[in-house]
Amino acid sequence: MGLRHGWLFGSAACALAGVAMILSSCSTIERTVIAPPMIEGASFAGNRACYECHTNYVRVFPSSAHGRIHASNLRMKDQSGCESCHGPGSKHIAAGGGRGRFILNPGKDSQTCLTCHLQVHAELSLPQRHPVLEGKLNCVQCHDPHGFDIMQPAGTGLAMARLNETCAQCHREQAKPHVYQHDAMREGCTVCHVPHGSINAKMLVERDSNLCLKCHAQVQGTGVPPGDVVFGTINHSSRGYLSRGTCWSAGCHSAIHGSNVSPYLQY
Ligand code: HEC
Ligand code: HEC
Ligand code: HEC
Ligand code: HEC
Ligand code: HEC
Ligand code: HEC
Ligand code: HEC
Repeated sequence: MGLRHGWLFGSAACALAGVAMILSSCSTIERTVIAPPMIEGASFAGNRACYECHTNYVRVFPSSAHGRIHASNLRMKDQSGCESCHGPGSKHIAAGGGRGRFILNPGKDSQTCLTCHLQVHAELSLPQRHPVLEGKLNCVQCHDPHGFDIMQPAGTGLAMARLNETCAQCHREQAKPHVYQHDAMREGCTVCHVPHGSINAKMLVERDSNLCLKCHAQVQGTGVPPGDVVFGTINHSSRGYLSRGTCWSAGCHSAIHGSNVSPYLQY
């Protein structure tokens, strides 16, 4: 079972789970089989070859999202380890290492990530998007490629592990505490926003009031005409609120991230 590499999962069961994951994500991985990152004249050296000089990265890597799918005895053994992102390392090692020396650093260019993550590439091309393809933002500002939690930004350590804090790095205004919090925020920014890109304005998950209705189920009280929509004690239909636009436009709940003055998140 390739134990000579020392890079296997703790148990055969885990290894099988790893295989299943790779097989079930054909669309992401298939492409790499065709086009792994290339470095002229270099060949794959394996993770262990990096250990001597990059000990910490190699140590934490098995707990990372990509480390978990890495098994050196697979057909794609060279394409799930360090070199799947950094390119074949033999020339880098022969040269004694160094910055910009025969090695790729996808922290500067997301292209390496996108050759595997085609779906993300498609999302980042939608009309409303984070400008990653434009080079204004990078995957590692939201994803730590080596650590155990790939949903935190790289290089910030455990304190930033929560998703909202990842977004807060750049969007302080929305994430700051308010006197009247909107409890939806506890579920994270991504209950309402798609992180990579969307066809909807402001990268919203839904373009209309369905965004809110998935949590705010309508209440039918006694004396409420059939078909009218009531939240709390307020009949939003009879007052014509719902015909004015979305819940957050038309001067209604425009302080959707929280308010310091209005318990109803109006301003
Ligand atoms: C999923 C892709 C991916 C994998 C797999 C990966 N890395 Fe990286 N690596 C990156 C990215 C992205 C950066 C840039 C990080 C940044 O700028 O914060 C990086 C940066 C680095 C750096 C430079 C850090 C610095 O000081 O700038 C080293 C060294 C490194 N990786 C080593 C490794 C080793 C060793 C492994 C295997 C144990 C590995 N990487 C696996 C994506 C990856
Ligand atoms: C002989 C020691 C040595 C080995 C072995 C080694 N490296 Fe490096 N590597 C270095 C040094 C030194 C640097 C420069 C680090 C710095 O300036 O902080 C470096 C830098 C890097 C960088 C950053 C490059 C950049 O342009 O920012 C990456 C990525 C990297 N190594 C990946 C790897 C990977 C992957 C392996 C295994 C295939 C590996 N290294 C093996 C010594 C080594
Ligand atoms: C060699 C192909 C390959 C490369 C290169 C690659 N990935 Fe991945 N990545 C995968 C596979 C396979 C998985 C696990 C299956 C899946 O979720 O698609 C994965 C998982 C992930 C996940 C976790 C998905 C989840 O649901 O937990 C994130 C986030 C991610 N990759 C980001 C990146 C980033 C950022 C880079 C570049 C620094 C990168 N990947 C480079 C193949 C790759
Ligand atoms: C603005 C922050 C941000 C940037 C930039 C970003 N991501 Fe993500 N990404 C996220 C968040 C947040 C999630 C989790 C989504 C969820 O849980 O609903 C995610 C999820 C993923 C996943 C898991 C599958 C999915 O689509 O949900 C992959 C793979 C991934 N990102 C890859 C990448 C790659 C590759 C890049 C760079 C080309 C990148 N991301 C740039 C925030 C970001
Ligand atoms: C590294 C900085 C950075 C991080 C982290 C980041 N963003 Fe952004 N965000 C941007 C940039 C840059 C834009 C584009 C702004 C522009 O074009 O005016 C943007 C745009 C947006 C927009 C659209 C704003 C508009 O007016 O149309 C939303 C919504 C958004 N981000 C939500 C998020 C969420 C949710 C997260 C966390 C998953 C996040 N962002 C993480 C930098 C970031
Ligand atoms: C309950 C749903 C919801 C949650 C949760 C949410 N947002 Fe929003 N966000 C919205 C809506 C709706 C808009 C559009 C407001 C508008 O068009 O006036 C918006 C707009 C934005 C904008 C564009 C600027 C603006 O205020 O119009 C940014 C940036 C943003 N959100 C970031 C975030 C971040 C960061 C988080 C997490 C800390 C987050 N959002 C959580 C619903 C939400
Ligand atoms: C993830 C679930 C979730 C989503 C999505 C969501 N909310 Fe909320 N919202 C809550 C929770 C939980 C509360 C606090 C408990 C309550 O009052 O129902 C709340 C409270 C409110 C309040 C305060 C009213 C009061 O009686 O305390 C308003 C106003 C509100 N939400 C409007 C909206 C609007 C507008 C949207 C859509 C842009 C939205 N919510 C989306 C979960 C959500």
